[in-house]
Amino acid sequence: MDRRQALCSVGVGLLGLSGCARLPTFQAALTQGGFELKRSDIDEALLAEGGVRVRAVELSEDIALMQHDDGILQALGMTCSHLGCQVRPGGGFLVCPCHGSTFDLRGEVVRGPAQRALNRYIVTEKDGRVTIYASTR
Ligand code: FES
Repeated sequence: MDRRQALCSVGVGLLGLSGCARLPTFQAALTQGGFELKRSDIDEALLAEGGVRVRAVELSEDIALMQHDDGILQALGMTCSHLGCQVRPGGGFLVCPCHGSTFDLRGEVVRGPAQRALNRYIVTEKDGRVTIYASTR
């Protein structure tokens, strides 16, 4: 069993993001400084996969939008803070395929060589719409 397979077998993570498949990708529309998705469009994928990949022309990186067990949404940049590869979900973590950096589902480094957390984006939900704000926090 290689390291990635081992990570995939760890089980369900803090936010319920499971498996090692790629996240389903949704295009977001830029609206008043935020990137907006209809909650009804992403509900099924959030339930089935625990998260979705959000992509927009104006975004500098793809975002993993994940749902906590308590329903709270969290948005993390998918660009590894080491040298910029795309992280992937795996066994309750976000794992970089390039050099093995591993991040928990709050974006914190649990294994290097990365030294910095993933970018965290502000996300709000109102009236059936999920908005991700491009400024990181
Ligand atoms: S680019 Fe991600 S670990 Fe090096």
